Amino acid sequence: MNILVATGNAGKMKEFREVLDNFSRVLSMKEAGIKSDPEETGSTFRENALIKAGAVREILTGPEFDWKKADLDPDDTIVIADDSGLIIDAMPDELGVKSARFMGHDTSYDIKNKEILRRMADVEDEKRTARFVCAIALIFPDGSEYTEEGVMEGRIAHVISGNGGFGYDPIFFLPDLGCTSADLTADEKNAISHRGKALRAAAALIERKING
Ligand code: IMP
Repeated sequence: MNILVATGNAGKMKEFREVLDNFSRVLSMKEAGIKSDPEETGSTFRENALIKAGAVREILTGPEFDWKKADLDPDDTIVIADDSGLIIDAMPDELGVKSARFMGHDTSYDIKNKEILRRMADVEDEKRTARFVCAIALIFPDGSEYTEEGVMEGRIAHVISGNGGFGYDPIFFLPDLGCTSADLTADEKNAISHRGKALRAAAALIERKING
């Protein structure tokens, strides 16, 4: 069985491999020679993850795809994709499924993070609640579709902190740990993160489907 991951993001690819490599051959779109970047028109993370996985599955099973050259039999390949983002309760309409588009795709996360802290400057601690959400969509060779979701709860920090992670990690404060998710090592973050949780649920689902 192959697992084809519908992402062009190298950081995400690494996390997918770490969890899924154990029991299957894992390929990126690039390794399969597939290009896909569909518009994320869904209103939920699950919908958008399914849009991304569906677009790649269409190419994989389409007449133009030379699967022998790519050594990727569509009848033996699970396509998976993720969609994730940050929900900030005090800024309900701005991030969520639109997290990557907040202030424009080309704006640096340093600028985005500073702007969020500026806008949240007068918001008291109890109202700074936020969560990262990750949905993973899986499409099996028989066309059956599933989604799994993982959540990491936290609060918007008062100051930027940490050099790990990416994106909004430096402003995502974890009250139980007393630090941001950018202060954690990759392994520490994986153990509690939205993506780590969703990925482990996806891996468990694949294992159940493969082993009956
Ligand atoms: P996607 O690539 O469409 O899933 O967009 C994800 C968006 O949410 C991007 O803006 C990321 O920066 C943000 N995001 C998702 N997961 C994380 C995370 O673990 N840390 C920091 N930012 C994240």
